[in-house]
Amino acid sequence: MCGVFGYLGQSGQAAREVLAGLQRLEYRGYDSAGLCVVDADHHTRVIRAVGKVNNLRVKTDSMDFSSFSTGIGHTRWATHGGITEANCHPHTSQSGRFVVIHNGIIENYADLKAELIAKWYTFQSETDTEVTVQLFEDMFDGDYQSTMTRLVQRMHGAYGLVFIDRDNSWVLFGTKKWSPMVLGFGTDARYISSDYRSLIGLIDDYIILEDGDIFQITSDNYQILSEGHLADRTRQIVDESEKIAELGDFPNFMLKEVFEQPRVLEDVFRGRIDFSSYSLHSDTLAHIATLGIKRITVVASGTSYHSGLLGKYYLEELAGIPVDVVVSTEFKYKKKFVTPDELYIFVSQSGETIDTLDSLKIVKEQGGHVFGIVNVPGSAISRAAGQGLFTRAGTEVGVASTKAFVTQVACFLFLALYLGQKNGLDYRKYREIIDGISKLPEAISTLLLQNEAIKQVAEKYAHSHNFFYLGRAHELVIAMEWSLKLKELAYIHSEAYSSGELKHGSIALIDAEFPSLMINWGGILSPKNASSAEEIRARGGKVVWIIAKWDTNKHIYADTIEFDSLISELNPFLEVVILQLWAYHIANSLGRDVDKPRNLAKSVTVE
Ligand code: G6P
Repeated sequence: MCGVFGYLGQSGQAAREVLAGLQRLEYRGYDSAGLCVVDADHHTRVIRAVGKVNNLRVKTDSMDFSSFSTGIGHTRWATHGGITEANCHPHTSQSGRFVVIHNGIIENYADLKAELIAKWYTFQSETDTEVTVQLFEDMFDGDYQSTMTRLVQRMHGAYGLVFIDRDNSWVLFGTKKWSPMVLGFGTDARYISSDYRSLIGLIDDYIILEDGDIFQITSDNYQILSEGHLADRTRQIVDESEKIAELGDFPNFMLKEVFEQPRVLEDVFRGRIDFSSYSLHSDTLAHIATLGIKRITVVASGTSYHSGLLGKYYLEELAGIPVDVVVSTEFKYKKKFVTPDELYIFVSQSGETIDTLDSLKIVKEQGGHVFGIVNVPGSAISRAAGQGLFTRAGTEVGVASTKAFVTQVACFLFLALYLGQKNGLDYRKYREIIDGISKLPEAISTLLLQNEAIKQVAEKYAHSHNFFYLGRAHELVIAMEWSLKLKELAYIHSEAYSSGELKHGSIALIDAEFPSLMINWGGILSPKNASSAEEIRARGGKVVWIIAKWDTNKHIYADTIEFDSLISELNPFLEVVILQLWAYHIANSLGRDVDKPRNLAKSVTVE
């Protein structure tokens, strides 16, 4: 949430490099963007623009940046203060000497601001961030790191802060707590960024900063202080196989990432399942299987929470282990009963979500077994968990998670099979699922051929103001996930409901303008779904069936989208693809920005 980027290098390059960095960090927030550059003659230039990075680019297009070698930039997801130019970062100190960018929230900013106002400081913005740069100036003793050490003692909250000094263009300095930050080392330049992946192609190696680190970098030196002492942080080599995500022929990242799902579903099981011998391989799970786990708690937010709910279904059905799934924001503050026979699974695409990370740390402090299901290697949650499964989905750019979700679910399925084979899962079922998994990528590729047909049905409903997403059992979870995504992508109200529960109140909302999507692969609950559909139809409501081709219930419809179902356990992977395309086409036809829906950010590093 919010992206910070810093560059220190070649004369004339600063603005260009910062803008390029901001473009790669834009997924972290796109309410506004801004940059500050400084040159050797103590000139600074601060440029800010409301909206996406492109607006900042347009504003800077005709400016001359040839003398500037050092710069910082910011993409904002607004917390304190409206989306106005005055509230855009960077923020400047009273004298104009120091300029700052910030990712996080300074919780005691109001007290600090009052204190500074009493000293005649004036403020230009409503942000919490401006306090940090004013206070820094007020406390400055001539030494960046000693002033920073005293500054962090005054601030409560989360921060990744990078400062520039108008009087010294050769240095960048700052600190971090809870918000992610890396230092990157290139041949001719040094970088600071919220996300290591934004530096791929620019650097040879990098350092992941730890909470409390106070850093100072120049072109030929760097220093990191931790608790008052020089810290020797490991420089990690860039993984050359990682690439910056590119659109190719797709109109946006969401569609591209939907179409990548057959491939990522091969990647997530590669080396983990041997399809010819039906054997499973994972050193981590081999260790977990020795722990005598009797209960599992899954902690996650948003889409990752929904993958946890599907994980619950798999782990209970296949491994016979009871599972609780709790959203991170609630888990963090609730009473915990950590026992040695319980496993805590923390799920996160970004590996950064602050509530998930904090929850993990609390369980760890209490001696619990922790396990991560994470997409981004090197992220805070993967490092803090120390063990788990990477989802191997690759960089996901679209703010609405698609391929990362299916790989999270795949990891849960793998875990459930692994623990299930130890806990007496029926061998025929076990083989049936493994055979089904081997066919999954192809089944999804085939389903994606229906893209145009799904589009045609979806667009018929694009002007509805409300939707019900209905299902039972694990299909209810798919309903929950894609009901959320319809809100997120199309800005249309929708609710997910157990189709059986509808008659206990919410059916009162049904009329001809309030369509329902019924997600139904068949199976024993299919007649129950059919009855619920009849009840809706009897009240003038329309039901769109997402249904297995062979199912006979489809006479009750307004429209149907049919698919070749697999076994029950694997159908969620297919249904989710249909609902991804459904939401995509509705949002697209309404002219929404599917990659960057309004008010959102892909990574949430503030509470
Ligand atoms: C934000 C994103 C969601 C995501 C959630 C959890 O709300 O917009 O797409 O599911 O955070 O993120 P995580 O990275 O922990 O999976």
